[in-house]
Amino acid sequence: MKIAIGNDHTGVGMKNEIVTYLTNNGYEVINIGTNEGQAADYPDFGHQVGQMVANGGADLGIVICGTGIGISIAANKVPGVRAALCYETTTAQLAREHNNANVLALGARLIANQKAVWIVEAFLKANFDEGRHARRVNQIEDITC
Ligand code: RB5
Repeated sequence: MKIAIGNDHTGVGMKNEIVTYLTNNGYEVINIGTNEGQAADYPDFGHQVGQMVANGGADLGIVICGTGIGISIAANKVPGVRAALCYETTTAQLAREHNNANVLALGARLIANQKAVWIVEAFLKANFDEGRHARRVNQIEDITC
């Protein structure tokens, strides 16, 4: 399974710990975030991860900024992306099971790196429950502005 991961400057350390977890567990990682400490704007990273997931270049995405809010908003601008901002494991699991989330957003300034790894693990181990949830996710996909 291919995971695209993108982050701004706040998320470099968290990204590195998640990449270690992913590679140790057999995932292929596409790192499109910054690896530097200098301030880097999050919208482009969220956009790039979103595009990679939407066009099939990655199966799932992970995006990280200080709160996870800005980069999740950016990723969600890409049609077909369902980015979920999660601060703990239960919402990460439910984001996959109920919402078929295909991008996980994390806040590097809000949670510890180890907790982020547990959240990633919960997200990746869960599967979409289909059924009534599929109807609702399809309703979201059908929204046009
Ligand atoms: C950067 O200072 C910060 O604003 C950014 O990482 C993120 O939290 C935005 O939502």
